[in-house]
Amino acid sequence: MRTDTGRIIHLADYRPTDFVLERVDLTFELDPEATKVEARLIFHRREGTDPAAPLVLDGDELTLSGLLFDQMEMARERYTATPDTLVVRDLPESSPFELTITTVINPQANSQLMGLYRSSGIYCTQCEAEGFRRITYFPDRPDVLAPYTVTIIADKAANPLLLSNGNYLGGGNFDEGRHFAAWFDPHPKPAYLFALVAGDLGVVEDKFTTMSGREVALKIYVEHGKEPRAAYAMDALKRSMKWDEEVFGREYDLDIFMIVAVSDFNMGAMENKGLNVFNDKYVLADPETATDADYANIEAIIAHEYFHNWTGNRITCRDWFQLCLKEGLTVFRDHEFSADQRSRPVKRIAEVRHLRSEQFPEDAGPLAHPVRPDKYREINNFYTTTVYEKGSEVTRMIATILGRDLFKKGMDLYFERHDGEAATVEDFVRCFEAASGRDLGQFSLWYNQAGTPHVSVAAAYDAAGKTLTLEIGQTVPPTPGQADKKPMHIPLDLALVLEDGTIAAPTSVEGAEMTGSVLHLKEARHKVIFTGIPSRPALSLNRSFSAPVVVRYDQKPADLALIARHETDLFSRWQAITDLALPALKDAARAARKGEAIQIDVTFADALLAVAADPALEPAFRAQALTLPSEADIARELGGDNDPDAIHAGREAVLTAIARTGAETFGSLYDTMTPDGGYSPDAASAGRRALRNAALLYRTIAADTPALAAEAFAKADNMTDLAQALTVLAHRFPEAPETHAALAAFEARFAENALVIDKWFQIQATIPGDGALARVMRLKGNRHFNENNPNRVRSLVGAFVFSNPTGFNRADGAGYRFLSEEILRIDAKNPQLAARLLTSMRSWRQLEPARAELARTALVRVEREVLSNDVRDIVDRTLK
Ligand code: PHE
Ligand code: ZN
Repeated sequence: MRTDTGRIIHLADYRPTDFVLERVDLTFELDPEATKVEARLIFHRREGTDPAAPLVLDGDELTLSGLLFDQMEMARERYTATPDTLVVRDLPESSPFELTITTVINPQANSQLMGLYRSSGIYCTQCEAEGFRRITYFPDRPDVLAPYTVTIIADKAANPLLLSNGNYLGGGNFDEGRHFAAWFDPHPKPAYLFALVAGDLGVVEDKFTTMSGREVALKIYVEHGKEPRAAYAMDALKRSMKWDEEVFGREYDLDIFMIVAVSDFNMGAMENKGLNVFNDKYVLADPETATDADYANIEAIIAHEYFHNWTGNRITCRDWFQLCLKEGLTVFRDHEFSADQRSRPVKRIAEVRHLRSEQFPEDAGPLAHPVRPDKYREINNFYTTTVYEKGSEVTRMIATILGRDLFKKGMDLYFERHDGEAATVEDFVRCFEAASGRDLGQFSLWYNQAGTPHVSVAAAYDAAGKTLTLEIGQTVPPTPGQADKKPMHIPLDLALVLEDGTIAAPTSVEGAEMTGSVLHLKEARHKVIFTGIPSRPALSLNRSFSAPVVVRYDQKPADLALIARHETDLFSRWQAITDLALPALKDAARAARKGEAIQIDVTFADALLAVAADPALEPAFRAQALTLPSEADIARELGGDNDPDAIHAGREAVLTAIARTGAETFGSLYDTMTPDGGYSPDAASAGRRALRNAALLYRTIAADTPALAAEAFAKADNMTDLAQALTVLAHRFPEAPETHAALAAFEARFAENALVIDKWFQIQATIPGDGALARVMRLKGNRHFNENNPNRVRSLVGAFVFSNPTGFNRADGAGYRFLSEEILRIDAKNPQLAARLLTSMRSWRQLEPARAELARTALVRVEREVLSNDVRDIVDRTLK
């Protein structure tokens, strides 16, 4: 474990390396406990740098077992090696030289899953962000790019497969039952994109012909016997390759593209050049074991990693502060891909729900940071929803501001100018300025100012003058280290919806620039006057969620209902329905908090039920309308002094009211939204299932018996329906015999499939109420649980702390104490996983005082221990 040094890295301190790395030649002799790594590195001193400067290489828990200079033993006094650095002195002033570094590492003992490790008998690597330094001493930073040659030597019987980046050079047999393979990657790359995989795996093969007619071999490697479950991933890969050619003009650049699925992985997947390594959860799927959501995730993540080949690999990041340059942009690209492959509005609704429930709380709490941070203590902790999802929103705003064609022109320029380079956010923005002639200086604040902007709107309609006046203000709340903020450039898409449902076309707009339907807010306050508006319009604001802001506008329910019925932007229709339901949810929570009886006026439900029943709308959209804001969303809207039990009780009361009012609608949806034919994971079929499953939930709530869900469980012929039926049973009737029977049947049927057992863990970990903690502790003893596997830990412990507000936030604080103990134990093995789990405490200050104090006590308990750099960073910032 790398413990904390307290050292903070600052963007302002960036400077290029003193030495230029020309070539990398690696030889691995694989052994589970003693793998020998020989790294031959050719360097020369950068022109204009200090001729006496030593070469400083990074390491992490390494021991040096040999060092040659130009093939000769290096004199002992010329270098110093510690576990985390190798310093070499007296190096040539200008001529190139070669260092040969030998290290011996233990993949079997690597429980952090960074560097070279073993997962179910497979050797694999994870080098982003700073894992390569756990393999050999190296200038481990993203602006050091070189071509790599890799030779892998291993026992042939145990490791028939030997893979690395680039194109295959050749291989052959070796002494003592060993064999070797050599790979060459001609594209200069930073070390974080290095990968090696060895072992015995099955393969699914296909090919793709690129737009210029080159044939690329496609291979997806999975455990033997699981090949049929990789078919969907392969299909998604081919669609991604085609889409990137058609939409971004990007062609693949090697002869082979490989994906390897491994079962122990800290993140979703990794874009190593030509050799993506995936968490098997995002590769394996079939109707019996994967839900519609799993299919959609696989499609999105396969696309995401593939798209990195251009946005991340061909053009990489100068330093880790620029992480959003590859991640925000690539998320934007995968969002666009999914929108094109599926339903654009439904995809947008899902994105915004995710942003609001994950990124908004991050941006409003102690872990808030800019999309491009300017300091960090542990880079692993900056793979955040702010860098990824808000980063994507920032890219989307550039596209909105420039319009489709100029955005495309800017992207083309970016690829042209920076191919082969390690770039910065400034480089990226400059390409759009050059392509459009627009000044994006103020816009760039989106990269540097943390916090979700609030936009307040007040409207006045003047019937005599037929004008509408909007007073619009923006504020950006203070965040850690940033007390005062400047006004941002906010592209606010809006529509003025008239009584007859049409959208008004103003004859003039004064007070702010308007392009198309987008108003450009740039000042702290604007007074915007629209003329030629025939009657008082309803205001549809932030259409398609054109900016990641909170809009405060006191909407009349009648206006919301009008928007819910008539907006041409489907996202805005959904937003209106949500806004109609929110007051009821908040009032109910407040009443429950005061111990008062909950009264619900269900008029708001009319609009929601009208949409749910509207055959002209796609089922997936109708299902979204029926999915109320989550308890975490309501907590955020309430804004503090939160009691999760009251929020839960209030939301339940609202659900029950809707279930009763809409009984007829839900009955007919349940009967009509049945599948036609066998299971297909396509978006339209998934939408029908989503709508039917929403109806199942409401019908069960109205009936208050497990019968219907038990029947659905028995009849389900796919995992989507099965998991939903089990969720309804377990969450609503945890002690019913039907639930016990279903849980037992599910466990027995899928005992051999860890990814399905993860769903079983997750469903139980999220059963609301005080009983959840005991259940989670009991499940930790289940034979399928494995504390060393991140997917298992996230499904049980992660689901409990992130997705069970009442269970985790028990009034006696036992949930927080449990988390603190988990963190300390997991940290000793896998700091990244522990740090990620601890971010579940990021909103502790929003809790009512008694719970907040218990949460703080648990955090302090963690803070007092010896910790990894990862957990130290999170706990300190969370308590600050
Ligand atoms: N770069 C990966 C992605 O988003 C995420 C990742 C980061 C994976 C760090 C592993 C380690 O595509
Ligand atoms: Zn990524």
